Amino acid sequence: MKITVKVYVCKICGEAYIGTEAPSRCPFCGAFEKYFVESTKYDDTGAWDVELNDKDKANVEKALEVEISNNIFYKCASTKVPELDGQKLFKILAKVEGEHAAVWKKILKLDKIDFPKYDKCASKYKPNLEESHSREDRAIKFYGEAAAEAKSPRVKEIFKAFLEVETDHLHLSEERL
Ligand SMILES: [Fe+2]
Ligand SMILES: [Fe+2]
Repeated sequence: MKITVKVYVCKICGEAYIGTEAPSRCPFCGAFEKYFVESTKYDDTGAWDVELNDKDKANVEKALEVEISNNIFYKCASTKVPELDGQKLFKILAKVEGEHAAVWKKILKLDKIDFPKYDKCASKYKPNLEESHSREDRAIKFYGEAAAEAKSPRVKEIFKAFLEVETDHLHLSEERL
């Protein structure tokens, strides 16, 4: 039997995925399956050259800060918790939030972004899950407001997609608390 693999591209982060079908979640940014298109049909015209009004720019800059802060928190937590499930969970959350930061970096056309050193997370699983929960909760509320306010359709699309991703993250901590 011949198995046909294809290349699918995530319209939110622009990364590609090889598989027999599009994944339920982007392995890079966590965006849902509906954002995947076959690479032969992918067109990124306008995806990364976005006009930002003052409000959109301020919200995207705040989003970048939120993602960097969450990335360094999760990185810290992944190295401190003794549970293997916690190490894996926080490590992948750090990667996804790092990818979100990279998306905002591209939208803001920045050359580079800094991820400061951070070691103030707890060494036990539960308090880190609680902090994860409150961080995701804050992100979801902010992304919902930012999506509603967004003038740029592209910025609105990203805020909506990330809101869904952060909601996945919230469920992950809720199931463990
Ligand atoms: Fe993605
Ligand atoms: Fe995020």
